[in-house]
Amino acid sequence: MDGAVLVTGGAGYIGSHVVRHLGEAGYSVVVLDNLSKGFREAVLYGELVVGDTGDRQLVGQLLRDYSIKSVLHFAALTVVPESVAKPLYYYGNNTCSTRSLLACCQEAGVAHFVFSSTAAVYGIPPEGLASEDSPTAPINPYGTSKLMSEWMLRDLAAASPLRHITLRYFNVAGCDPQTRIGQSTPNATLLIKVACEAAVGKRESISIFGTDYATTDGTGVRDYIHVEDLADAHLKALRYLEEGGNSTTLNCGYGHGYTVREVLSAVERIHGKPLSIREEARRPGDPPTLVAHAQRIREVLGWQPRYDDLDFIVRTSLDWEKKLRARLGRGWQSNEA
Ligand code: UD1
Repeated sequence: MDGAVLVTGGAGYIGSHVVRHLGEAGYSVVVLDNLSKGFREAVLYGELVVGDTGDRQLVGQLLRDYSIKSVLHFAALTVVPESVAKPLYYYGNNTCSTRSLLACCQEAGVAHFVFSSTAAVYGIPPEGLASEDSPTAPINPYGTSKLMSEWMLRDLAAASPLRHITLRYFNVAGCDPQTRIGQSTPNATLLIKVACEAAVGKRESISIFGTDYATTDGTGVRDYIHVEDLADAHLKALRYLEEGGNSTTLNCGYGHGYTVREVLSAVERIHGKPLSIREEARRPGDPPTLVAHAQRIREVLGWQPRYDDLDFIVRTSLDWEKKLRARLGRGWQSNEA
């Protein structure tokens, strides 16, 4: 395991997909996850160490023991409304833990760092379209907690040999096409996950939050990216850094969006049954439209999406939800609140 890659949060939704890609590409992987949101069963490659990213002693030990040169940092809390209700929880877990991790990386001479950031750092960009150079102005503590981490990473990289890629995710959805791993977060709030839960009968209905936005059908527009394409972006980011690439920040999206109604229609079409849909008021903190300028990642990493297809995103999400439903009460559902 000498020269392994450390993946924090590698038992979570996006992290576990990246671990699978790393394993398939032949990397040795050490996953650090406290299993608060992640699942042991989701780690298909490498070694799982159960612990906190903010545990300086443990992280320092891991970096030394495995001679780690590259860190991919996913471990974070990600639920926007929860971040509004518990801001210090988010700043502690997301921002302070990242500072602690970076201090360990500096001490151990880690060379490459890939950071999971979010489109939430943009807040409400003009026209709903955000490029990497758009001003950052988060409108919720989740986005702020990630933006502060971005700044620490940027400044550390300027002051040390560490090189980094910050990936700003837009709306990540879909699951492993072979249904081995997927989005299992309890009390999910993400649109496609919630809609698929409603389709398989785990929820009675789905609510549309806001039907009076200035969009084509009055509902919110988002840039949904399949988790497999996102995982591929991480591998390309890591290789880019290993080959000597300069630090940079890249949007991860397809560059076009769908409304909530379009997403729900896709779920109904693929599931073959209507959903019970309620129309409700806007959800606080939601921008009307958020779509990526998605050119830079193609230019810098040579990344080409393979699954830019809403039906495929929904189909893989639905397949996973059916699998979870069948497993109810066992294994994957153990973190369920
Ligand atoms: C937000 C964050 C994103 C974060 C994600 C995870 C912003 C701008 N983005 O995405 O960075 O990774 O949360 O928490 O803060 N919707 C419904 N009904 C539902 C659920 C959602 O109508 O039951 C609508 C929302 O109002 C929104 C769209 O669907 O228009 C997408 O919402 P969601 O899937 O929750 O993700 P974001 O809030 O866009």
